Amino acid sequence: MEVVVLAAGQGKRMRSTRPKVLQPLAGRPLLSHVLCAARAVGADRICVVYGHGGDAVRQALDAPDLAWALQEPQLGTGHAVLQALPHLHHESSVLVLYGDVPLIGVPTLKRLAEAAGNDRLAILTVELAEPSGYGRIIRDREGRVHRIVEEKDASPDERNIREVNTGILVAPPGRLQDWLGRIGNHNAQQEYYLTDIIALAVSDGVEVVATHPDRAIETLGVNSKAHLAELERLHQRTIAQRLLDDGVTLIDPARIDVRGELLCGRDVEIDVNCVFEGRVELADGVTIGANSVVRDARLGTGTRVAPFSYVDGTEVGAHCVIGPYARTRPGTVLLDEVHLGNFVEVKNSRIAAQSKANHLAYVGDADVGERVNIGAGTITCNYDGANKYRTIIEDDVFIGSDTQLVAPVKVGRGATLGAGTTLTKDAPEGQLTVSRARQVSLAGWNRPKKKK
Ligand code: UD1
Ligand code: CA
Repeated sequence: MEVVVLAAGQGKRMRSTRPKVLQPLAGRPLLSHVLCAARAVGADRICVVYGHGGDAVRQALDAPDLAWALQEPQLGTGHAVLQALPHLHHESSVLVLYGDVPLIGVPTLKRLAEAAGNDRLAILTVELAEPSGYGRIIRDREGRVHRIVEEKDASPDERNIREVNTGILVAPPGRLQDWLGRIGNHNAQQEYYLTDIIALAVSDGVEVVATHPDRAIETLGVNSKAHLAELERLHQRTIAQRLLDDGVTLIDPARIDVRGELLCGRDVEIDVNCVFEGRVELADGVTIGANSVVRDARLGTGTRVAPFSYVDGTEVGAHCVIGPYARTRPGTVLLDEVHLGNFVEVKNSRIAAQSKANHLAYVGDADVGERVNIGAGTITCNYDGANKYRTIIEDDVFIGSDTQLVAPVKVGRGATLGAGTTLTKDAPEGQLTVSRARQVSLAGWNRPKKKK
């Protein structure tokens, strides 16, 4: 089977400079959801019909398995499919998808394709309580699909029909070229309607069958930011339900956003307003505190992320505690039982087991050993304005508060740095190193008094 994705429409109602099919749903373009479905259904070839803003679309989503057909000007859905035909094989059946209908389900498409078999035309239809705006399905007395009439061309009786065309269909091999060559544009919109091929199929003796989607949201299209926001919530609700079904505890399934892939072990608990981006893996017993963002990360068994934390590009071992208000940036690796407290930022650093930075610290480009205590206000000065350097802190080091480590610099095993130290040379193993002006107290000193 081959797939044509219609994506040439302008989407004026989005009021955006970004082409409609590049608007994001769950963190990725609408069109990319459709392409995923096309691939999952086993398309041999996918042709995207693009028009308005097309080059941006092509640049954003081009892939070796895609062909691109420019439709300019846009003369209707039939005209759009016609543009794709030179890119397709005539011996394949053709599935037509819409680039702005992102949640179409693979099982639904498989059923549609099965209904089409090798010689039928299969259309995906739904019954709507409020069918206005859609093409209506006209059936004959025996209940067979006879044709589709667009709302603007329909008689009052036809407008009362509630079975509507979703636009998604599978055409049998070798027929589209002929049918699309025969349709005209003598209709209310002076467009070439893809839907007119239904009547042609019937008159050619090709059987037309209709199937329905598993869920109504699969065929919802996006025409405005309001639709987009609605669909986002519906989609997130589906994802939340799947997590609940898998045994994840969600304190409020209406307040979670998954923009990518979230894989959870047993007894994972997620508090409200958390966002997951990219690929995130949470092992057994992980808990994520309220208002946290976790992106491209793996968290080990029993690790706890406390509220308001941002964990990005990070690998976390077992039984760590991150936050509240912690930030880990890409390249961070935390081994087991590491604790990062409030206002601690870690970037491109490896912190070994049982080390702690509980308050107000910046650890960047550092290798930190085991059981290290990083005091409040500790900063690795990794950047001289031009180059970045590493800081090495060996096992069992104790770093006093308000210490700066000017990289490249190394703190030997078991060393202690006195509070307030600015370390510019390596600190030897096992010793106290301190750089600090000696403390003096002046007896008999008086505070200045305001002049009269
Ligand atoms: C179309 C169907 C209608 C169906 C409805 C479902 C036709 C004639 N009508 O109507 O029966 O109920 O979808 O939403 O097919 N597009 C192009 N090039 C064009 C025109 C459209 O690529 O020249 C693309 C659009 O980007 C969109 C899709 O085709 O993804 C549907 O276009 P749209 O204008 O929304 O179709 P409707 O008139 O709503
Ligand atoms: Ca239209």
